Amino acid sequence: MERTYLMIKPDGVQRGLIGEIIGRFERKGLKLVGAKLIQMPLELAERHYAEHKGKDFYARLLEFITAGPVMAMVWEGDQAVSHARALIGKTNSLEAAPGTIRSDYAIHTNFNLIHGSDSHESALREIGIFFRDDELVSYEKAV
Ligand code: CMP
Repeated sequence: MERTYLMIKPDGVQRGLIGEIIGRFERKGLKLVGAKLIQMPLELAERHYAEHKGKDFYARLLEFITAGPVMAMVWEGDQAVSHARALIGKTNSLEAAPGTIRSDYAIHTNFNLIHGSDSHESALREIGIFFRDDELVSYEKAV
């Protein structure tokens, strides 16, 4: 069993796609174990995107991700990191496979609706940035 950090970005919230996006992970069979709508302070955005510091899109990315609320979530399931990334699709919406969230709803690499951890290690780090242990729940879910 693995956990992953997923975050609906400000464009997804503003476009009213929270329900649509969450529904895809629910229908896949992943389990939602933590969620909150937050306005991300710059300091938190810098921590989350530390690996991109220095890249040409870094400043734009920070501006965008702090421009409005994001839906921060933790999802659990077998190989949750890989399964979630398969549903999300590639970063560049033109390369995202049809049927993925980014292929179906995004047209721009900067405004690509959702972030998903890219590895088990990233997931642990990102969950730790956004959630305290007591904000995550444990429950049984019918398959
Ligand atoms: P995300 O999965 O949140 O991780 C980093 C984000 O940077 C990425 O999604 C995109 O929204 C944004 N970004 C903008 N330009 C690029 C790029 N050239 N390569 C990767 N990510 C980019």
